Formats: sequence, structure tokens, C-alpha cells
Amino acid sequence: MTNRRIAIVTGGARGIGAAIATRLAAQDRDVAVLDLDESSTRETVEAVRAAGVRAIGIGADVSRTADVEAAFARVVEDLGAPTILVNNAGILRDNLLFKMTDADWDAVVAVHLRGAFLMSRAVQRHQVEAQWGRIVSLSSTSALGNRGQANYAAVKAGIQGFTKTLAIELGRYNVTANAIAPGFIATDMLRQTAERMKVPFEDFLAGAAKEIPVARVGQPEDVAEAAAFFTSDAASFVSGQVLYVAGGPKA
Ligand SMILES: NC(=O)c1ccc[n+]([C@@H]2O[C@H](COP(=O)([O-])OP(=O)(O)OC[C@H]3O[C@@H](n4cnc5c(N)ncnc54)[C@H](O)[C@@H]3O)[C@@H](O)[C@H]2O)c1
Repeated sequence: MTNRRIAIVTGGARGIGAAIATRLAAQDRDVAVLDLDESSTRETVEAVRAAGVRAIGIGADVSRTADVEAAFARVVEDLGAPTILVNNAGILRDNLLFKMTDADWDAVVAVHLRGAFLMSRAVQRHQVEAQWGRIVSLSSTSALGNRGQANYAAVKAGIQGFTKTLAIELGRYNVTANAIAPGFIATDMLRQTAERMKVPFEDFLAGAAKEIPVARVGQPEDVAEAAAFFTSDAASFVSGQVLYVAGGPKA
């Protein structure tokens, strides 16, 4: 066992989660990389270990209580008590309201909101015990409203209220909670959106870049920098905030 702080990054197999896991490793955190399928975490786990810290991959669905409990038991057993949590796991089930099914709605609420709730409730016990902790949750510019995303916009706005409440409840234990609201970040999630719209991914990215003040789309590493700040020891007086990482003031 070392004195390193231990982080859990959900949805860490790829995209923004993988970049955050690697960035936290560079900050000398041990990292548990959690995703639906343990084998999918292998690449991220190797990247984290390459930074000289410990890493494990865990297969778990963040929306299932039993999976979350088992995941925490493994982290404690293999790495020690986790005090940093990044709620990053996410899915899209986009559709205009009149076409959105009950299943589209429920799946998005389950992964983003129930997932963040279950993971945060599980980690706070270790954070209170340690009298130190960091919770970072992924919101989105879609929280401000986005056509075809009634379900996703609702949960991403929900994440902001959830975060502010955690900040109020947990502050006295030196636990901070903050949210990152990315704009357009080039990941597989948006590749799916481009496919659904039948637009080649490169054209989709180029079209999006035209609307962004810094004239480019974001990369997972852009979001990881914000996560590194919020989870740093130095950010102890920053809590309940939402940081838009969008290359400009709005989506
Ligand atoms: N890409 C963007 O432009 C963008 C913008 C704003 C917010 N976000 C948010 O950032 C986060 C990461 O997005 P991304 O673009 O890297 O997506 P991604 O689809 O590339 O990766 C998401 C990861 O979450 C995992 N996951 C999904 N459901 C899960 C579950 N129930 N339990 C555990 N893991 C699960 C997936 O397997 C995948 O590895 C999401 O919360 C997303 O909503 C992304």
C-alpha cells in the first residue's frame, strides 16, 4: 500500500473517461477504471500503469446497485479506500420528444443520474472517513437545452443540481463536488450521432468547429485538464461549480 490517493473513473474504457484516468495518473493518483466490460478497460489500465501508479480494471454497470457495491469492494481490496470519484459513464438515446420511447428515457436517466447517485453515495463513506474527497461529474452544454435530447438535457441539468447539493452536504468533511460541462468533444459518442444523422464523421466535426469560437472541436484531453484541477489537492475551496469546457461561452 502507498499513500497515493485512489480514484475511480466510470466509463473509463475510452473517450473522455480514458483521458481523465490517464491525466489523474500523471497527477500521481492510483486509478480504478470502471466500465461495463472489464476487458474493455485494458488499454486505459495499461496507460495508467505506464505513468508509474497502480491501476485496476473493473466491469460494472453504474446503474445497478449490486454492481456498484461489488466494484467498491474490489477497489478497497485491491487498491485501498477510494477518495476521488469521476462520474463520467454515459450513453445517448437521442430522439425528438414525439418519438422518444419510455426505454430511451429510462436508460439515460438510469446511467447518468442513478449511476452518479449510486457511485457518489458509495464513495462518500470513504471520503468522510478520510476527511478528504473529490467528486467530479460530467454534465454537458446540452443541459442548456438541445433538440432531440430531452432525456439527455434533463439528466445533464440534473447532474448540476446533484453536484451543488453534494457540495453543500459534504463540504464539512473537506469533500468538494464539481461538474464539468463539455461542449463538442470528438469521441465515439459523437461518432454515433454523426452516423445517426448520416453525415461522415469528419464533415460532422468540421461543421461543428465552424460554430465554436476557438474554431476547433474539443479533445478528451481538454476535459481531462478540468478534471485534474477539480480533483487536485489545491482546489479545496472550489465546490459546487459547473465549468463549461466548450471553446466558448455556449454550445
Ligand atoms: N463527447 C462529448 O462531446 C460530450 C459532451 C458533453 C458531455 N459528455 C459526457 O462525457 C461523458 C463521457 O463521454 P464520451 O464522449 O467519452 O462517451 P463514450 O461513449 O466515448 O464513452 C462512455 C463510456 O461510458 C461507458 N458506459 C456506458 N454506460 C455505462 C454504465 N451503465 N456503466 C459503466 N460504464 C458505462 C461506455 O461503455 C463507454 O466506455 C458522458 O457522461 C457524456 O455524456 C460528452
